[in-house]
Amino acid sequence: MRRFCNRFLPALLLFALAFPPSPTAAQAPDTATGSDGMVVAAEPFAAEAGLEILKQGGNAVDAAVAVGFALAVTYPQAGNLGGGGFMLIRMADGRAALVDYREAAPGAAHRDMYLDAEGNLVPQASTVGWRAVGVPGAVAGLTLAQEKFGALPLKKVMAPAIRLAEKGFPVSERLAQELRDAAPLLSQFPESRRIFLRNGRYYEPGETFRQKDLARTLKKIAKRGARAFYQGSIAKRFAREMKRHHGLITRADLRRYQARVRQPLLGHFRGYEILGAPPPSSGGVAVLEMLNILDPLLPPDAEPLAPQTIHLMTETMRRAFADRARFLGDADFASVPVRGLLDLGYARALRASIDPARASASEQLSLPDPPGYEARSGNRAVLAPRRESANTTHFSVVDGTGNAVATSITINSFFGNGVTLPGLGFLLNNEMDDFTAKPGAPNALFDLVQSQANKIEPGKRPLSSMSPTIVIRNGEVILALGSPGGPRIINAVLLVLLNRLAFGRPLAEAVALPRYHHQWMPDTLFLEKNLFSQEQLDALAARGHALRERESIGAVNAIERDPATGRLTGVSDARRRGVARGF
Ligand code: GLY
Repeated sequence: MRRFCNRFLPALLLFALAFPPSPTAAQAPDTATGSDGMVVAAEPFAAEAGLEILKQGGNAVDAAVAVGFALAVTYPQAGNLGGGGFMLIRMADGRAALVDYREAAPGAAHRDMYLDAEGNLVPQASTVGWRAVGVPGAVAGLTLAQEKFGALPLKKVMAPAIRLAEKGFPVSERLAQELRDAAPLLSQFPESRRIFLRNGRYYEPGETFRQKDLARTLKKIAKRGARAFYQGSIAKRFAREMKRHHGLITRADLRRYQARVRQPLLGHFRGYEILGAPPPSSGGVAVLEMLNILDPLLPPDAEPLAPQTIHLMTETMRRAFADRARFLGDADFASVPVRGLLDLGYARALRASIDPARASASEQLSLPDPPGYEARSGNRAVLAPRRESANTTHFSVVDGTGNAVATSITINSFFGNGVTLPGLGFLLNNEMDDFTAKPGAPNALFDLVQSQANKIEPGKRPLSSMSPTIVIRNGEVILALGSPGGPRIINAVLLVLLNRLAFGRPLAEAVALPRYHHQWMPDTLFLEKNLFSQEQLDALAARGHALRERESIGAVNAIERDPATGRLTGVSDARRRGVARGF
Protein backbone atom coordinates (compact mmCIF):
# COMPACT_ATOMS: atom_id res chain seq x y z
CA MET A 1 0.00 0.00 0.00
CA ARG A 2 2.13 2.83 -1.22
CA ARG A 3 0.63 6.15 -0.44
CA PHE A 4 1.70 9.70 -0.60
CA CYS A 5 1.27 11.29 2.78
CA ASN A 6 -1.44 13.90 2.41
CA ARG A 7 -0.43 15.87 5.47
CA PHE A 8 2.95 16.33 4.02
CA LEU A 9 2.30 18.61 1.04
CA PRO A 10 0.80 21.54 2.95
CA ALA A 11 3.64 21.41 5.46
CA LEU A 12 6.22 21.50 2.69
CA LEU A 13 4.42 24.32 0.99
CA LEU A 14 4.51 26.36 4.18
CA PHE A 15 8.14 25.54 4.61
CA ALA A 16 8.94 26.59 1.04
CA LEU A 17 7.16 29.89 1.58
CA ALA A 18 8.96 30.53 4.83
CA PHE A 19 12.41 29.77 3.49
CA PRO A 20 12.63 30.39 -0.24
CA PRO A 21 14.28 29.24 -2.41
CA SER A 22 14.16 25.54 -1.69
CA PRO A 23 13.54 23.88 -5.05
CA THR A 24 14.28 20.31 -4.01
CA ALA A 25 12.86 20.44 -0.49
CA ALA A 26 9.60 19.22 -1.91
CA GLN A 27 11.06 15.91 -3.10
CA ALA A 28 8.62 13.68 -1.35
CA PRO A 29 9.88 10.52 0.27
CA ASP A 30 8.30 7.22 -0.68
CA THR A 31 5.72 6.42 1.98
CA ALA A 32 3.45 3.53 2.87
CA THR A 33 1.04 2.66 5.62
CA GLY A 34 -0.10 -0.64 7.04
CA SER A 35 -0.76 -2.48 10.25
CA ASP A 36 0.64 -5.99 9.68
CA GLY A 37 4.15 -5.17 8.59
CA MET A 38 6.40 -2.52 7.09
CA VAL A 39 9.75 -2.66 5.32
CA VAL A 40 11.72 0.41 4.26
CA ALA A 41 14.82 -0.29 2.21
CA ALA A 42 17.08 0.96 -0.56
CA GLU A 43 15.34 -0.80 -3.43
CA PRO A 44 12.00 -2.51 -4.19
CA PHE A 45 12.95 -6.15 -4.78
CA ALA A 46 14.65 -6.43 -1.41
CA ALA A 47 11.82 -4.60 0.35
CA GLU A 48 9.33 -7.00 -1.26
CA ALA A 49 11.44 -9.96 -0.14
CA GLY A 50 10.91 -8.71 3.42
CA LEU A 51 7.16 -8.38 2.90
CA GLU A 52 7.00 -11.88 1.42
CA ILE A 53 8.58 -13.29 4.58
CA LEU A 54 6.28 -11.28 6.86
CA LYS A 55 3.28 -12.62 4.94
CA GLN A 56 4.58 -16.16 5.42
CA GLY A 57 4.45 -15.66 9.19
CA GLY A 58 7.99 -14.43 9.72
CA ASN A 59 8.66 -11.78 12.32
CA ALA A 60 10.55 -8.51 11.83
CA VAL A 61 13.92 -10.24 12.27
CA ASP A 62 13.13 -12.92 9.67
CA ALA A 63 12.04 -10.17 7.30
CA ALA A 64 15.13 -8.06 7.97
CA VAL A 65 17.39 -11.05 7.32
CA ALA A 66 15.50 -11.72 4.08
CA VAL A 67 16.00 -8.08 3.07
CA GLY A 68 19.69 -8.25 3.96
CA PHE A 69 20.33 -11.29 1.79
CA ALA A 70 18.16 -9.89 -1.01
CA LEU A 71 20.12 -6.62 -1.01
CA ALA A 72 23.28 -8.70 -1.49
CA VAL A 73 21.74 -9.61 -4.86
CA THR A 74 19.87 -6.48 -5.93
CA TYR A 75 22.00 -3.73 -4.41
CA PRO A 76 25.61 -4.78 -4.97
CA GLN A 77 26.62 -1.13 -4.54
CA ALA A 78 26.37 -1.60 -0.77
CA GLY A 79 24.37 -4.54 0.47
CA ASN A 80 26.73 -7.41 0.32
CA LEU A 81 27.93 -10.73 1.71
CA GLY A 82 31.43 -9.26 1.63
CA GLY A 83 30.59 -6.47 4.09
CA GLY A 84 29.39 -5.96 7.62
CA GLY A 85 27.12 -3.90 9.80
CA PHE A 86 24.96 -3.58 12.87
CA MET A 87 21.45 -4.86 13.51
CA LEU A 88 19.50 -3.25 16.32
CA ILE A 89 16.58 -5.41 17.46
CA ARG A 90 13.77 -4.58 19.88
CA MET A 91 11.26 -7.37 20.33
CA ALA A 92 7.72 -6.64 21.45
CA ASP A 93 8.38 -8.66 24.63
CA GLY A 94 11.01 -6.10 25.66
CA ARG A 95 14.19 -7.97 24.64
CA ALA A 96 16.70 -5.70 22.93
CA ALA A 97 19.99 -6.59 21.26
CA LEU A 98 22.58 -5.17 18.96
CA VAL A 99 24.08 -7.74 16.62
CA ASP A 100 27.55 -6.46 15.78
CA TYR A 101 28.67 -7.95 12.49
CA ARG A 102 31.24 -5.31 11.70
CA GLU A 103 34.22 -6.54 9.71
CA ALA A 104 37.44 -7.36 11.59
CA ALA A 105 41.07 -6.73 10.68
CA PRO A 106 42.82 -9.91 9.51
CA GLY A 107 45.44 -11.52 11.77
CA ALA A 108 48.30 -10.27 9.62
CA ALA A 109 47.10 -6.64 9.73
CA HIS A 110 49.26 -4.14 11.55
CA ARG A 111 49.15 -0.49 12.53
CA ASP A 112 51.31 0.85 9.72
CA MET A 113 50.16 -1.41 6.92
CA TYR A 114 48.99 1.48 4.72
CA LEU A 115 52.09 3.65 5.20
CA ASP A 116 55.19 3.78 3.02
CA ALA A 117 58.78 3.80 4.32
CA GLU A 118 58.53 7.54 4.98
CA GLY A 119 55.35 7.09 7.00
CA ASN A 120 53.06 8.53 4.32
CA LEU A 121 49.72 7.01 3.43
CA VAL A 122 50.02 4.96 0.23
CA PRO A 123 47.26 6.21 -2.11
CA GLN A 124 44.37 3.73 -2.48
CA ALA A 125 46.10 1.08 -0.34
CA SER A 126 43.23 1.06 2.15
CA THR A 127 40.46 1.53 -0.40
CA VAL A 128 41.09 -0.48 -3.58
CA GLY A 129 41.99 -4.12 -4.10
CA TRP A 130 42.83 -7.18 -2.08
CA ARG A 131 44.61 -5.61 0.90
CA ALA A 132 41.82 -3.16 1.78
CA VAL A 133 39.49 -5.89 3.03
CA GLY A 134 38.29 -6.59 6.55
CA VAL A 135 37.01 -10.09 7.37
CA PRO A 136 33.34 -9.86 6.32
CA GLY A 137 30.71 -10.14 9.02
CA ALA A 138 27.43 -9.97 7.10
CA VAL A 139 26.78 -13.71 6.82
CA ALA A 140 27.63 -14.32 10.49
CA GLY A 141 25.48 -11.39 11.63
CA LEU A 142 22.40 -12.07 9.54
CA THR A 143 22.37 -15.78 10.39
CA LEU A 144 23.01 -15.14 14.10
CA ALA A 145 20.17 -12.62 14.32
CA GLN A 146 17.87 -15.04 12.55
CA GLU A 147 18.85 -17.95 14.78
CA LYS A 148 18.39 -15.96 18.01
CA PHE A 149 15.32 -13.90 17.19
CA GLY A 150 13.74 -15.26 14.00
CA ALA A 151 10.76 -17.60 13.79
CA LEU A 152 11.24 -19.27 10.39
CA PRO A 153 13.94 -21.64 9.08
CA LEU A 154 16.91 -19.88 7.46
CA LYS A 155 16.24 -21.69 4.19
CA LYS A 156 12.81 -20.11 3.93
CA VAL A 157 14.10 -16.66 4.83
CA MET A 158 16.82 -16.86 2.18
CA ALA A 159 14.54 -18.19 -0.56
CA PRO A 160 13.68 -14.77 -2.06
CA ALA A 161 17.37 -13.81 -2.32
CA ILE A 162 18.23 -17.11 -3.98
CA ARG A 163 15.37 -16.68 -6.44
CA LEU A 164 16.47 -13.13 -7.28
CA ALA A 165 20.03 -14.29 -7.91
CA GLU A 166 19.04 -17.36 -9.92
CA LYS A 167 16.17 -16.03 -12.02
CA GLY A 168 17.44 -12.48 -12.05
CA PHE A 169 15.67 -9.14 -11.77
CA PRO A 170 15.28 -6.19 -14.12
CA VAL A 171 18.10 -3.70 -13.81
CA SER A 172 16.84 -0.31 -12.65
CA GLU A 173 17.96 2.96 -14.19
CA ARG A 174 19.86 3.70 -11.01
CA LEU A 175 21.72 0.37 -10.98
CA ALA A 176 22.56 0.65 -14.68
CA GLN A 177 23.94 4.14 -14.14
CA GLU A 178 25.85 3.28 -10.97
CA LEU A 179 27.43 0.23 -12.62
CA ARG A 180 28.64 2.46 -15.44
CA ASP A 181 29.91 5.03 -12.99
CA ALA A 182 31.82 2.30 -11.16
CA ALA A 183 33.47 0.98 -14.33
CA PRO A 184 36.87 2.58 -13.57
CA LEU A 185 36.98 0.63 -10.30
CA LEU A 186 35.28 -2.62 -11.33
CA SER A 187 37.14 -3.01 -14.61
CA GLN A 188 40.43 -3.37 -12.69
CA PHE A 189 39.33 -6.80 -11.48
CA PRO A 190 38.46 -9.47 -14.11
CA GLU A 191 35.70 -11.17 -12.11
CA SER A 192 34.01 -7.84 -11.33
CA ARG A 193 34.37 -6.81 -14.97
CA ARG A 194 32.76 -10.10 -16.07
CA ILE A 195 29.83 -10.06 -13.64
CA PHE A 196 28.98 -6.40 -13.17
CA LEU A 197 30.17 -4.86 -16.44
CA ARG A 198 29.59 -7.89 -18.72
CA ASN A 199 33.07 -7.24 -20.06
CA GLY A 200 32.03 -3.86 -21.43
CA ARG A 201 28.48 -4.65 -22.61
CA TYR A 202 26.99 -2.54 -19.85
CA TYR A 203 23.61 -3.49 -18.44
CA GLU A 204 20.79 -1.31 -19.74
CA PRO A 205 17.73 -0.47 -17.66
CA GLY A 206 15.17 -3.28 -17.90
CA GLU A 207 17.65 -6.03 -18.78
CA THR A 208 17.64 -9.06 -16.52
CA PHE A 209 20.60 -9.41 -14.17
CA ARG A 210 21.22 -13.05 -13.18
CA GLN A 211 24.00 -14.02 -10.78
CA LYS A 212 24.61 -17.76 -10.92
CA ASP A 213 27.74 -17.80 -8.78
CA LEU A 214 26.08 -15.72 -6.09
CA ALA A 215 23.02 -18.01 -6.18
CA ARG A 216 25.30 -21.00 -5.53
CA THR A 217 26.97 -19.20 -2.62
CA LEU A 218 23.59 -18.25 -1.13
CA LYS A 219 22.30 -21.81 -1.45
CA LYS A 220 25.29 -23.13 0.47
CA ILE A 221 24.64 -20.62 3.25
CA ALA A 222 20.92 -21.47 3.28
CA LYS A 223 21.79 -25.16 3.66
CA ARG A 224 24.64 -25.03 6.15
CA GLY A 225 24.37 -21.60 7.74
CA ALA A 226 27.36 -19.37 8.48
CA ARG A 227 29.66 -22.43 8.66
CA ALA A 228 29.47 -22.71 4.88
CA PHE A 229 30.91 -19.24 4.57
CA TYR A 230 33.49 -19.23 7.37
CA GLN A 231 34.62 -22.88 7.36
CA GLY A 232 33.37 -24.71 4.30
CA SER A 233 34.08 -24.55 0.60
CA ILE A 234 33.39 -20.80 0.43
CA ALA A 235 36.07 -20.13 3.05
CA LYS A 236 38.52 -22.38 1.25
CA ARG A 237 38.06 -20.58 -2.04
CA PHE A 238 38.03 -17.15 -0.35
CA ALA A 239 41.38 -17.80 1.34
CA ARG A 240 42.93 -19.34 -1.78
CA GLU A 241 42.06 -16.30 -3.91
CA MET A 242 43.27 -13.95 -1.17
CA LYS A 243 46.65 -15.68 -1.09
CA ARG A 244 46.93 -15.68 -4.86
CA HIS A 245 46.43 -11.89 -4.91
CA HIS A 246 48.57 -11.07 -1.86
CA GLY A 247 45.60 -10.27 0.31
CA LEU A 248 45.77 -10.92 4.04
CA ILE A 249 42.63 -12.87 4.96
CA THR A 250 43.32 -16.53 5.73
CA ARG A 251 41.12 -19.52 6.50
CA ALA A 252 41.99 -19.03 10.18
CA ASP A 253 40.73 -15.41 10.01
CA LEU A 254 37.46 -16.60 8.53
CA ARG A 255 37.11 -19.45 11.05
CA ARG A 256 37.76 -17.06 13.96
CA TYR A 257 35.26 -14.41 12.89
CA GLN A 258 32.19 -14.15 15.10
CA ALA A 259 29.26 -11.78 15.09
CA ARG A 260 28.63 -10.51 18.62
CA VAL A 261 25.43 -9.79 20.46
CA ARG A 262 25.92 -6.58 22.46
CA GLN A 263 23.78 -4.57 24.80
CA PRO A 264 22.38 -1.58 22.90
CA LEU A 265 23.13 1.86 24.32
CA LEU A 266 20.17 3.47 26.04
CA GLY A 267 19.56 7.22 26.27
CA HIS A 268 16.63 9.39 27.26
CA PHE A 269 15.20 12.43 25.54
CA ARG A 270 12.06 14.25 26.67
CA GLY A 271 10.25 11.11 27.79
CA TYR A 272 11.50 8.87 25.01
CA GLU A 273 13.95 6.00 25.37
CA ILE A 274 16.47 5.90 22.54
CA LEU A 275 18.35 2.69 21.70
CA GLY A 276 21.57 3.01 19.71
CA ALA A 277 24.59 1.02 18.53
CA PRO A 278 27.57 0.83 20.92
CA PRO A 279 31.23 0.67 19.77
CA PRO A 280 32.66 -0.35 17.41
CA SER A 281 30.10 2.04 16.01
CA SER A 282 30.40 5.65 17.06
CA GLY A 283 26.79 6.19 16.01
CA GLY A 284 24.98 5.42 19.26
CA VAL A 285 27.45 7.32 21.44
CA ALA A 286 27.42 10.39 19.20
CA VAL A 287 23.63 10.56 18.75
CA LEU A 288 22.95 10.06 22.47
CA GLU A 289 25.70 12.49 23.53
CA MET A 290 24.20 15.14 21.25
CA LEU A 291 20.67 14.53 22.52
CA ASN A 292 21.97 14.96 26.10
CA ILE A 293 23.54 18.29 25.18
CA LEU A 294 20.54 19.51 23.18
CA ASP A 295 17.71 18.54 25.53
CA PRO A 296 17.86 21.67 27.71
CA LEU A 297 19.64 23.73 25.06
CA LEU A 298 16.85 23.79 22.47
CA PRO A 299 13.95 25.97 23.60
CA PRO A 300 10.50 24.33 23.33
CA ASP A 301 9.45 26.75 20.57
CA ALA A 302 12.62 26.29 18.51
CA GLU A 303 12.09 26.08 14.74
CA PRO A 304 14.09 23.32 13.03
CA LEU A 305 15.61 25.53 10.34
CA ALA A 306 15.92 28.83 12.18
CA PRO A 307 19.55 30.02 12.03
CA GLN A 308 19.80 30.01 15.82
CA THR A 309 18.68 26.36 15.97
CA ILE A 310 21.18 25.43 13.25
CA HIS A 311 23.89 27.29 15.16
CA LEU A 312 23.22 25.42 18.43
CA MET A 313 22.96 22.09 16.65
CA THR A 314 26.17 22.74 14.76
CA GLU A 315 28.06 23.54 17.95
CA THR A 316 26.72 20.31 19.43
CA MET A 317 27.79 18.31 16.36
CA ARG A 318 31.25 19.89 16.54
CA ARG A 319 31.71 18.70 20.13
CA ALA A 320 30.35 15.19 19.61
CA PHE A 321 32.56 14.67 16.55
CA ALA A 322 35.59 15.98 18.45
CA ASP A 323 34.85 13.31 21.06
CA ARG A 324 34.40 10.71 18.35
CA ALA A 325 37.84 11.58 17.10
CA ARG A 326 39.41 11.73 20.56
CA PHE A 327 38.06 8.63 22.18
CA LEU A 328 36.21 6.14 20.03
CA GLY A 329 37.29 2.78 18.66
CA ASP A 330 36.54 -0.91 19.19
CA ALA A 331 35.98 -1.14 22.96
CA ASP A 332 37.17 -4.77 22.91
CA PHE A 333 40.65 -3.40 22.15
CA ALA A 334 40.81 0.21 23.39
CA SER A 335 39.71 2.00 26.51
CA VAL A 336 36.57 3.82 25.33
CA PRO A 337 34.82 6.05 27.91
CA VAL A 338 31.26 5.33 26.77
CA ARG A 339 29.67 5.95 30.18
CA GLY A 340 31.59 9.18 30.65
CA LEU A 341 30.62 10.48 27.22
CA LEU A 342 26.95 9.79 27.99
CA ASP A 343 27.12 11.25 31.50
CA LEU A 344 24.65 14.11 32.00
CA GLY A 345 27.21 16.14 33.96
CA TYR A 346 29.58 15.83 31.03
CA ALA A 347 26.79 16.98 28.68
CA ARG A 348 26.31 19.99 30.98
CA ALA A 349 30.01 20.85 30.74
CA LEU A 350 29.95 20.65 26.94
CA ARG A 351 26.76 22.72 26.80
CA ALA A 352 28.41 25.38 28.92
CA SER A 353 31.26 25.58 26.40
CA ILE A 354 28.84 26.61 23.60
CA ASP A 355 28.63 30.32 22.84
CA PRO A 356 25.00 30.97 21.85
CA ALA A 357 26.09 33.80 19.57
CA ARG A 358 29.37 32.64 17.97
CA ALA A 359 30.81 29.56 16.33
CA SER A 360 33.74 27.94 18.16
CA ALA A 361 36.91 27.30 16.19
CA SER A 362 37.49 23.54 15.94
CA GLU A 363 41.28 24.01 16.04
CA GLN A 364 41.02 25.74 19.39
CA LEU A 365 38.30 23.63 20.90
CA SER A 366 39.35 22.58 24.36
CA LEU A 367 36.98 20.08 25.90
CA PRO A 368 37.12 18.47 29.33
CA ASP A 369 37.75 14.74 29.67
CA PRO A 370 34.60 12.69 30.25
CA PRO A 371 34.28 11.22 33.75
CA GLY A 372 36.14 7.94 34.23
CA TYR A 373 38.43 8.45 31.28
CA GLU A 374 41.91 7.16 31.97
CA ALA A 375 44.36 9.39 30.19
CA ARG A 376 47.02 6.67 30.40
CA SER A 377 45.21 4.66 27.70
CA GLY A 378 47.00 6.74 25.10
CA ASN A 379 43.95 6.90 22.87
CA ARG A 380 43.86 10.61 22.57
CA ALA A 381 43.67 11.91 19.03
CA VAL A 382 45.61 14.69 17.55
CA LEU A 383 42.59 16.89 16.90
CA ALA A 384 42.39 17.19 13.07
CA PRO A 385 40.14 16.38 9.88
CA ARG A 386 38.69 13.61 7.63
CA ARG A 387 36.37 13.21 4.55
CA GLU A 388 33.43 10.94 3.67
CA SER A 389 31.76 9.01 0.89
CA ALA A 390 30.54 5.61 1.68
CA ASN A 391 28.17 3.12 0.56
CA THR A 392 26.20 1.89 3.34
CA THR A 393 22.57 0.98 3.18
CA HIS A 394 20.02 1.06 5.96
CA PHE A 395 16.73 -0.80 6.24
CA SER A 396 14.07 -0.80 8.90
CA VAL A 397 11.39 -3.41 9.53
CA VAL A 398 8.50 -3.44 12.00
CA ASP A 399 6.00 -6.29 12.14
CA GLY A 400 2.36 -6.31 13.21
CA THR A 401 3.16 -7.27 16.80
CA GLY A 402 5.60 -4.41 17.28
CA ASN A 403 8.92 -6.27 16.89
CA ALA A 404 11.33 -3.82 15.31
CA VAL A 405 14.65 -3.96 13.50
CA ALA A 406 16.91 -1.12 12.37
CA THR A 407 19.95 -2.39 10.51
CA SER A 408 22.73 -0.82 8.51
CA ILE A 409 25.09 -2.78 6.29
CA THR A 410 28.05 -1.59 4.29
CA ILE A 411 30.99 -2.46 2.11
CA ASN A 412 32.21 1.10 2.80
CA SER A 413 32.47 2.87 -0.54
CA PHE A 414 30.36 2.19 -3.64
CA PHE A 415 31.12 -1.38 -4.80
CA GLY A 416 33.61 -1.71 -1.96
CA ASN A 417 37.21 -2.47 -2.89
CA GLY A 418 36.14 -3.44 -6.44
CA VAL A 419 37.07 -7.12 -6.05
CA THR A 420 34.61 -9.95 -6.68
CA LEU A 421 35.84 -13.27 -5.38
CA PRO A 422 36.15 -15.58 -8.42
CA GLY A 423 33.39 -18.18 -8.48
CA LEU A 424 31.66 -16.81 -5.38
CA GLY A 425 29.83 -13.86 -6.91
CA PHE A 426 30.09 -11.19 -4.22
CA LEU A 427 32.10 -8.00 -3.87
CA LEU A 428 34.43 -7.33 -0.97
CA ASN A 429 34.52 -4.37 1.39
CA ASN A 430 37.22 -1.75 1.86
CA GLU A 431 36.34 -1.27 5.50
CA MET A 432 40.00 -1.19 6.57
CA ASP A 433 39.90 2.47 5.55
CA ASP A 434 37.65 3.15 8.53
CA PHE A 435 40.62 2.53 10.83
CA THR A 436 43.08 5.25 11.74
CA ALA A 437 45.67 4.48 9.06
CA LYS A 438 47.82 7.38 10.26
CA PRO A 439 46.97 9.24 13.48
CA GLY A 440 46.29 12.89 12.84
CA ALA A 441 45.87 12.40 9.08
CA PRO A 442 42.46 12.26 7.43
CA ASN A 443 41.54 8.83 6.10
CA ALA A 444 41.04 8.34 2.40
CA LEU A 445 37.25 8.24 2.20
CA PHE A 446 35.87 10.53 4.88
CA ASP A 447 38.25 13.28 5.99
CA LEU A 448 37.79 12.16 9.57
CA VAL A 449 40.76 12.24 11.85
CA GLN A 450 40.76 9.59 14.53
CA SER A 451 42.83 8.48 17.47
CA GLN A 452 44.97 5.54 18.52
CA ALA A 453 41.77 4.04 19.95
CA ASN A 454 40.99 3.19 16.34
CA LYS A 455 44.47 2.09 15.22
CA ILE A 456 44.74 -1.12 13.20
CA GLU A 457 45.19 -4.29 15.29
CA PRO A 458 44.62 -7.92 14.32
CA GLY A 459 41.02 -8.98 14.97
CA LYS A 460 39.90 -5.45 15.80
CA ARG A 461 36.82 -3.86 14.22
CA PRO A 462 37.17 -0.42 12.59
CA LEU A 463 35.19 2.45 14.03
CA SER A 464 31.90 2.98 12.21
CA SER A 465 29.38 5.81 12.02
CA MET A 466 26.41 3.56 11.38
CA SER A 467 23.56 4.61 13.62
CA PRO A 468 20.64 2.19 13.61
CA THR A 469 18.27 3.70 16.16
CA ILE A 470 15.02 2.64 17.81
CA VAL A 471 12.80 4.91 19.91
CA ILE A 472 10.55 3.56 22.63
CA ARG A 473 7.77 5.21 24.57
CA ASN A 474 5.96 3.55 27.46
CA GLY A 475 7.65 0.26 26.65
CA GLU A 476 6.60 0.19 22.97
CA VAL A 477 8.56 0.87 19.83
CA ILE A 478 7.47 4.07 18.12
CA LEU A 479 10.32 4.64 15.63
CA ALA A 480 13.02 2.63 13.86
CA LEU A 481 15.47 4.42 11.60
CA GLY A 482 18.96 4.77 10.20
CA SER A 483 20.85 6.05 7.18
CA PRO A 484 23.83 5.57 4.88
CA GLY A 485 26.40 8.34 4.44
CA GLY A 486 29.59 7.74 6.49
CA PRO A 487 29.91 10.35 9.27
CA ARG A 488 26.87 12.16 7.86
CA ILE A 489 24.82 9.19 9.03
CA ILE A 490 25.10 10.41 12.61
CA ASN A 491 23.79 13.88 11.91
CA ALA A 492 21.11 12.73 9.46
CA VAL A 493 19.71 10.44 12.17
CA LEU A 494 19.99 13.17 14.81
CA LEU A 495 18.16 15.69 12.63
CA VAL A 496 15.31 13.32 11.79
CA LEU A 497 14.96 12.34 15.47
CA LEU A 498 14.74 15.98 16.49
CA ASN A 499 12.44 16.96 13.63
CA ARG A 500 10.04 14.27 14.80
CA LEU A 501 10.46 14.19 18.61
CA ALA A 502 11.38 17.79 19.45
CA PHE A 503 9.87 19.81 16.60
CA GLY A 504 6.80 17.60 16.17
CA ARG A 505 6.98 17.29 12.40
CA PRO A 506 5.21 14.32 10.73
CA LEU A 507 7.70 11.60 9.84
CA ALA A 508 7.66 12.25 6.07
CA GLU A 509 8.43 15.90 6.65
CA ALA A 510 10.99 15.07 9.34
CA VAL A 511 12.83 12.98 6.74
CA ALA A 512 12.48 15.48 3.89
CA LEU A 513 13.55 18.68 5.67
CA PRO A 514 16.89 20.10 4.51
CA ARG A 515 19.96 18.80 6.37
CA TYR A 516 23.31 20.13 7.45
CA HIS A 517 26.41 18.50 8.84
CA HIS A 518 29.44 19.43 10.91
CA GLN A 519 32.05 16.86 11.87
CA TRP A 520 34.44 19.05 13.87
CA MET A 521 37.15 18.74 11.23
CA PRO A 522 37.17 20.11 8.61
CA ASP A 523 35.80 23.16 10.42
CA THR A 524 33.03 23.58 7.87
CA LEU A 525 29.28 23.61 8.14
CA PHE A 526 28.01 21.61 5.17
CA LEU A 527 24.48 22.43 4.02
CA GLU A 528 22.44 20.65 1.40
CA LYS A 529 22.70 22.53 -1.86
CA ASN A 530 19.93 24.98 -2.84
CA LEU A 531 17.82 24.13 0.21
CA PHE A 532 18.78 27.07 2.42
CA SER A 533 17.88 30.67 1.69
CA GLN A 534 20.46 33.43 1.38
CA GLU A 535 19.00 34.89 4.55
CA GLN A 536 19.71 31.69 6.47
CA LEU A 537 23.23 31.42 5.04
CA ASP A 538 24.00 35.06 5.90
CA ALA A 539 22.75 34.60 9.46
CA LEU A 540 24.98 31.56 9.94
CA ALA A 541 28.02 33.24 8.39
CA ALA A 542 27.44 36.20 10.71
CA ARG A 543 27.80 33.80 13.66
CA GLY A 544 31.22 32.79 12.34
CA HIS A 545 30.45 29.49 10.58
CA ALA A 546 32.42 28.57 7.48
CA LEU A 547 29.74 27.37 5.08
CA ARG A 548 29.87 24.99 2.17
CA GLU A 549 26.98 23.63 0.14
CA ARG A 550 27.07 19.97 -0.86
CA GLU A 551 24.91 17.24 -2.32
CA SER A 552 22.52 15.32 -0.15
CA ILE A 553 23.30 14.34 3.42
CA GLY A 554 22.27 10.78 4.29
CA ALA A 555 19.13 8.91 3.20
CA VAL A 556 16.97 7.98 6.13
CA ASN A 557 14.76 4.89 5.99
CA ALA A 558 12.35 5.08 8.89
CA ILE A 559 9.21 3.47 10.29
CA GLU A 560 6.85 4.95 12.82
CA ARG A 561 4.44 2.87 14.85
CA ASP A 562 1.42 4.33 16.61
CA PRO A 563 1.16 2.22 19.77
CA ALA A 564 -2.52 3.13 20.24
CA THR A 565 -3.64 1.70 16.90
CA GLY A 566 -0.67 -0.38 15.72
CA ARG A 567 -0.67 1.66 12.51
CA LEU A 568 2.70 1.66 10.75
CA THR A 569 4.02 4.46 8.55
CA GLY A 570 7.07 3.78 6.42
CA VAL A 571 9.12 6.62 4.97
CA SER A 572 12.02 6.22 2.58
CA ASP A 573 14.14 9.26 1.83
CA ALA A 574 13.94 10.59 -1.73
CA ARG A 575 17.65 11.41 -1.46
CA ARG A 576 18.54 7.85 -2.52
CA ARG A 577 15.24 6.76 -4.02
CA GLY A 578 14.53 3.98 -1.56
CA VAL A 579 11.09 2.44 -1.02
CA ALA A 580 8.57 1.87 1.74
CA ARG A 581 6.36 -1.23 1.49
CA GLY A 582 3.66 -2.19 3.96
CA PHE A 583 0.47 -4.19 4.28
N1 GLY B 1 31.93 2.49 6.42
C1 GLY B 1 31.23 3.58 6.93
C2 GLY B 1 30.94 3.46 8.37
O1 GLY B 1 30.89 2.36 8.87
O2 GLY B 1 30.79 4.45 9.03
